[in-house]
Amino acid sequence: MPILDRFNLTGRRALITGGSRGLGLEMARALGEAGAELIIAGSDETHLQNAHTTLRGEGLTVTTIRADLSKPEEAERLCNVLLRDHPPIDILINNVGGRRINTPTEDLALEDWQRILDLNLTQAFILTKRIGGAMIPRKWGRIINISSINALWPGKAMRGRSYETSKGALTMFTKAVAADWAAHGITVNAIAPGPFLTDANKRWIGERPEFESEVATSIPMGRWGSPEEIGPLALYLASDASSYMTGSVLVIDGGKLLW
Ligand SMILES: NC(=O)c1ccc[n+]([C@@H]2O[C@H](COP(=O)([O-])OP(=O)(O)OC[C@H]3O[C@@H](n4cnc5c(N)ncnc54)[C@H](OP(=O)(O)O)[C@@H]3O)[C@@H](O)[C@H]2O)c1
Repeated sequence: MPILDRFNLTGRRALITGGSRGLGLEMARALGEAGAELIIAGSDETHLQNAHTTLRGEGLTVTTIRADLSKPEEAERLCNVLLRDHPPIDILINNVGGRRINTPTEDLALEDWQRILDLNLTQAFILTKRIGGAMIPRKWGRIINISSINALWPGKAMRGRSYETSKGALTMFTKAVAADWAAHGITVNAIAPGPFLTDANKRWIGERPEFESEVATSIPMGRWGSPEEIGPLALYLASDASSYMTGSVLVIDGGKLLW
């Protein structure tokens, strides 16, 4: 098969959680341009509508579904809707996550710890179990979990360690499920992004403008990542191009972890 044909996703349906903005939107666009039919889930109806209008305007096929994935029961409800109304789903990108909180561990409230674990880990478990589980009889599937370089390295800028812990657990969950489901033709990999200029980080920069240059100078490439730079990596993992890769954690960080 010609090399570029291995990246073709025609006939595949992809679910991207948090596909309405930031990295999720760019991964959705990349998969859509490669031919996939897109389903994007997010918590805010206006953001979903904006993404729908943008992607449809680019000629892509896209369905939107609202669900607040910080709540496990909403993740279950989303799965019920997807399995009933939109089967089969071939590609799952568990991208929703974030909400770092700069609270030292000694002061961190249990409910804040639990909230961040539910947002970064529990919903990804539920979606993997239900949507990924439905891939097993079909003998083909791609699951991509969006972790973070902070799964591998705590860093010193923030002290709400629930984020690093939940991303670390998501990374090990990736490897464990990859081992279990390799025999079913399902690959499970993680992407560990470094600093990208998305709304979440723009908010931090808004609160502390020097953060932007502090981070840029801490990266060997000397700059933040641009959200569209994650698209080709997601496409690789979503397609037949990555047929022999499973259980891997791919770092994309401009070299940040080298220093
Ligand atoms: N940006 C970075 O530098 C960076 C670095 C390492 C890892 N990551 C990881 O990459 C992923 C995406 O980050 P990002 O920077 O693109 O985030 P973002 O700009 O904040 O976008 C997050 C996306 O998730 C959706 N979302 C947020 N909370 C949700 C909820 N409770 N239920 C359903 N959808 C929800 C948002 O839509 P709504 O607002 O409509 O809900 C949006 O589509 C996260 O897992 C993050 O931890 C990012």
